[in-house]
Amino acid sequence: MKIIVVGSGYVGLCTAVGFATLGHDVVCVDVDEEKVDKINKGEVPIYEEGLDKMLSQALQENKLHATTNIESVKETDFVFVAVGTPSKENGSIDLKYVESASVDIANFIKDRNYCTVVVKSTVLPETTEKVVIPILEKTGKKAGRDFGVCANPEFLREGKAMDDFFNPDRLIIGELDKKSGDILEKLYDNFKSPIMRTDLKTAELIKYASNAFLATKVTFINEIGNMCKNLGIDVYDVAEGMGLDKRIGKNFLQAGIGFGGSCFRKDVEALLSKTKETRAESKILSTVLDINKDQPLRIVHLLKKRLPNLNEKTIAVLGLAFKEGTDDIRDAPSISIIAELLKHGCIVKCYDPKASDNMSKIYPNIDYCNSAGAALNKTDACLILTAWDEFKKLSDKDFSNMKSKIIIEGRKVLDKSLVTSFEGVLW
Ligand code: UGA
Repeated sequence: MKIIVVGSGYVGLCTAVGFATLGHDVVCVDVDEEKVDKINKGEVPIYEEGLDKMLSQALQENKLHATTNIESVKETDFVFVAVGTPSKENGSIDLKYVESASVDIANFIKDRNYCTVVVKSTVLPETTEKVVIPILEKTGKKAGRDFGVCANPEFLREGKAMDDFFNPDRLIIGELDKKSGDILEKLYDNFKSPIMRTDLKTAELIKYASNAFLATKVTFINEIGNMCKNLGIDVYDVAEGMGLDKRIGKNFLQAGIGFGGSCFRKDVEALLSKTKETRAESKILSTVLDINKDQPLRIVHLLKKRLPNLNEKTIAVLGLAFKEGTDDIRDAPSISIIAELLKHGCIVKCYDPKASDNMSKIYPNIDYCNSAGAALNKTDACLILTAWDEFKKLSDKDFSNMKSKIIIEGRKVLDKSLVTSFEGVLW
């Protein structure tokens, strides 16, 4: 099949490379010339495991190329919309990229044969119907007759995106009409995952409700963890016991310094603003956001218990990315933790295997080290904020050059048999 993917951010690029790897002919379209050049040279603008090799392979086999000009493509079977949907100041979603992509796609489909437009960007219920389709129909063509429309949300996790692309738990196909859904279902023919077909706005809400539920699940176990800390109970033991109940499940019960990333806060905020618009309310979701805002700072409170005067103390921060396996620092708990350390007059030495460059744009004046060992050298305390595999191997020897051995982990990562004394933020 011939596929255009509009937007070469994290979702667009992973989707494009995934389809190209499956043998489809893919064109990435992006307004950013520099990004387009990079993709055509096989340079991946983000860190995502396996993506660079798959991109090179796809380029070599002529299965993918990038362009700024959608008009340079002759015909296509699908146009995927995978542009970003950032938040506005008030938490509602900013549709400017979806709108401008829709205008470009409208001009593109105007003089071409039938193709199916698939909205993959995370958009609130009714967006495809009320925003995308009206723009596409300005061409005089009719949705459902002259072109197909589907909403097909993504469930890719950063760090595991390619694996999630090829082996999704489910595929949600929201369809304007049966023909559009049938055509998209055919594209996913070789996938073994269950496929659910529904209308457009239900598919759109499934995406938001899924992220909101996951954010709530993490926040729930963090609250239990806060309680556990006061009671001297390890929240991971509690989570293990809970997770054995099939109705609860063991995933997403890893307590710690709170969720981060580009999606959970943004999507929960957007869903809340939609809820207000429909004159409903969600007490749960606003509480989730409140709790998660405070959660990272707990590690600094614990540190203050051990070092009451933090002024001019040197603190090693291991891990900056919002989670392991990515260089992404968007909404990372490390950002507010470092801010708090600096506010208390600390000298921060940090190390992350991938995310230092991104963090240096926010904090240009802290010390970025090339290894955990260098960050730990002569420090008064160490905070571990991301569960990178290499931190799991740290042992007493790695911490031996610290001035005082105060180690607090914000994610459960250290091995008790290798490190003799440390504390967990909630365990
Ligand atoms: C999330 C969803 O998991 C994806 O399904 C979705 O496609 C994506 O958002 C999106 O909307 O694009 P992602 O943000 O990459 O994916 O990361 P997650 O693995 O979901 O983790 C989010 C945050 O929650 C991280 O900071 C992570 O450390 C934290 N988390 C996760 C916990 O604190 N505990 C857990 O048990 C799980």
